[in-house]
This record gives sequence, structure tokens and C-alpha cells, in this order.
Amino acid sequence: METNDPLDPIPLVWTDDPLDVYRELRENHPLHYVEDRDLFVLSRYEDILAAIKDSKTWSSASGVVPSGFKPDKPTVITIDPPDHTQMRHAVNRAFTPRRIEVLSTRIRSMARELTRAMPKEGPADAFHAFTDPLPLYVMAELLGVDREQRSMFKRCGDAIVYATETDPETLLSAQTELTDYLAVVFEERRRAPKEDLISLLLTESPEGAALSEDDLLGLCFLLLVAGTETTTSGLGNALLLLDRYRDARERIIDDPSLLKTAVDEVLRFDAPVQGLSRVATRDVELYGRAIPKGARVHLLFAAANRDPGVFADPDRFDIERTPNPHLSFGFGVHFCLGASLARMELRLGLEEFLRHAPAYVVADGVERLKSDTNRGFARLPVVI
Ligand code: HEM
Repeated sequence: METNDPLDPIPLVWTDDPLDVYRELRENHPLHYVEDRDLFVLSRYEDILAAIKDSKTWSSASGVVPSGFKPDKPTVITIDPPDHTQMRHAVNRAFTPRRIEVLSTRIRSMARELTRAMPKEGPADAFHAFTDPLPLYVMAELLGVDREQRSMFKRCGDAIVYATETDPETLLSAQTELTDYLAVVFEERRRAPKEDLISLLLTESPEGAALSEDDLLGLCFLLLVAGTETTTSGLGNALLLLDRYRDARERIIDDPSLLKTAVDEVLRFDAPVQGLSRVATRDVELYGRAIPKGARVHLLFAAANRDPGVFADPDRFDIERTPNPHLSFGFGVHFCLGASLARMELRLGLEEFLRHAPAYVVADGVERLKSDTNRGFARLPVVI
């Protein structure tokens, strides 16, 4: 729904520069109400942090996007503590540093394969050729999807990630196809476990109980939605920023170890998930204003990431910024399960891209994705 409110943060997600409005919100309207959307908006770092830490007052159970959309079956991101604690514990064991590290060789070789296949003549669409497929292929690898099924997985994954609101028929048939496929994989892994997430979470181990097939299916779908397009946006934002800040690019090319801090600065500077929401479980008063029980409050991580009370010179792109307590992965109990994996994908993906195309230039025709929350791309033409 379009509104006439110039401080409505949602359309800003796909504009060129939402920062003036974020500043205006932070400085003069720290608790803003968008009437047409019936949505309260918080933009100051300390307010957002306080809200995320207090999941008793600010619940995720009614969905975490402004539209209130949530999967039919609750999954880790839409469950509040104490049930969340148990579920999170069960899935954490698939994301240990050792398990993530094992993927690094594969991530690098997939990034290399994709960048080497990009055409050298004329602009190539880096979104289709690189930033979109890489996280989906990594997800396929993590889940243990067979190589021959990777194009089916990519087709269904893309439909699930991008067609939620625009094309319900495509979405439904992709969901059915993937559910049928995963049912077969579950059966196979039960009989002959492998070294993948599905095998691990289907079986009990000293580190934790097994997940039911239903919960595991819900998790696979959540991972697709939470873990692919977000990383795709991060890669795209990085390519755009390193096009704008050439000196930063040169320094990274000379010393790729700078990518460790540069990746977090990219995430702070242009957050892939600009904000997520919560619903009040009781009447709350904030800045002298009543927020009634049941009201939805949007937490603008991207505005908090530029809060001068927390970040010195917040509008400076500083690839060595330390510490960098940005909120782009959220905070507290729902802190991103895939943060280490995402950081690794960004680091290795960018290293391979810059190795192959150190002098790339972003061409005309960049198109942003239309989403309530994610600052992503539909097209990202580059000349390499
Ligand atoms: C740059 C990439 C990514 C960004 C910016 C991102 C951002 C976020 C944010 C902001 C949250 C907090 C949600 C909330 O508080 O309601 C979150 C949670 C989550 N993320 Fe990520 N994410 C990224 C990549 C990934 C990846 C690669 C995976 C999995 C492979 C993943 C899986 C999840 C899951 C399962 C949750 C829910 C955790 C819970 O509720 O306990 N994310 N992510």
C-alpha cells in the first residue's frame, strides 16, 4: 500500500538514498506513526536495541515484516522465548564455526566458477550472473541438495524468495515441488546419513535432540528466505559501494585481509535488511505517546546503523571501522543464525570477484528490488 507520508520508511527501501529521511526520523520523530500502514517506527539505536532485547514486550510471533506476513507454521524466527530457546538450541548445532568453515573451500570455488563465466564484452548483469546464484548454491550445499538438482533448487528457491507477494501461483507450485523433493531427501538421509544439515538435524546426538520432519521442513524454507536474498543484497551493495569508493577497493585488492572489517562496514553502511518489526504484547508508553497492545512497531536497523551517538562520523565509509556494533544481523535471541556464514560468503565472494574483475565499473540501469524490508537488486549491470 502506498502512503502519502514522506516519513514512511517502506518505499525508501528501494530509493537511491533513504538517509535524509532516516536522519529526520532519528533527530525529530524518534517514535513515528505511519497512519496508512498503522505502523509505529523506531529509528534510534538505543530504542531499537532496548526493543529487541525485550522479547516479552515486543513479540515476533505475529511475523517480523511490516505487512504481518508469516509462514503458516511457526518457525524459529516467529517463535518467542521460552519455546524459541529450545528450537534455536536444536538448530544451532548445524551452524557451529567448524561446520561453517568446512564450506569455505566450496564457496570459494563456486564464486570462482561464477565470476569466470561472466562475459567480458559489454555490461553483464552481476545480479543474475553472480550475486543471486552464489548464496542459493551455498544454501543447496549446506542442505545437501544433489548437484543434479541444483537448477531445480535455484528455480524453486528464486520463486519462494522473490514471488511471495507478486505471483502466488508460481510460489505455490515452487513450494509443492520443493516440499516433494525434500520429503525424498529426508527419507534418503534417514537411511544413509551424510555430512549435511538435513542428516544432522534429523538425528539425535549428544549436542541436541532431532527435529521433527515438519520442523525441519519449516526450517529449510526459512533458511531459503532468510539466508539467500539477504546475502545476495549484501554482495550487490558491496559491489555498488566499492564502485563508489575506489580508494577502498584499491586497498582491499592490495590487502584482501581488510575484507574482514570491510564486510561489516558494507553491512552497516547499507543494511540488506533495513528493518524488521515486532508486535506489542501490552500497552507501552514511549516519548509520551501510547503504543497500544497489538500495535506493530518497525525497527529501522539501517537508521540505527547511522546513529552518531554510537558510530563516530557515521556517514563515512570506513573499511577498518572497529568496533562496529551495527544491527544488520539483529541482536539478542533472534540474532542471525547465519551471520558467520553470511560474512564468509561476502568475504570470499568479493575476494574472488575482485581478483577476476579488479577494474569493474557499475553501468547504467541498476534496478532495486521492491520489498518492504530488503535493500536488494533486480538488476546490477557491470562492465568487467
Ligand atoms: C548478509 C546476510 C544476512 C543478513 C543481513 C541477515 C539478517 C538477519 C536479521 C536482521 C535477523 C534477525 C531477525 C529478527 O530479529 O527478527 C536474522 C535472523 C535469522 N537469519 Fe539471517 N541474515 C543474513 C544471512 C543469513 C544466512 C546466510 C542464514 C542461513 C543460512 C540466515 C538465517 C537466519 C535465521 C534462521 C534467522 C532467525 C534466527 C532466530 O530467530 O533465532 N541469515 N538474519
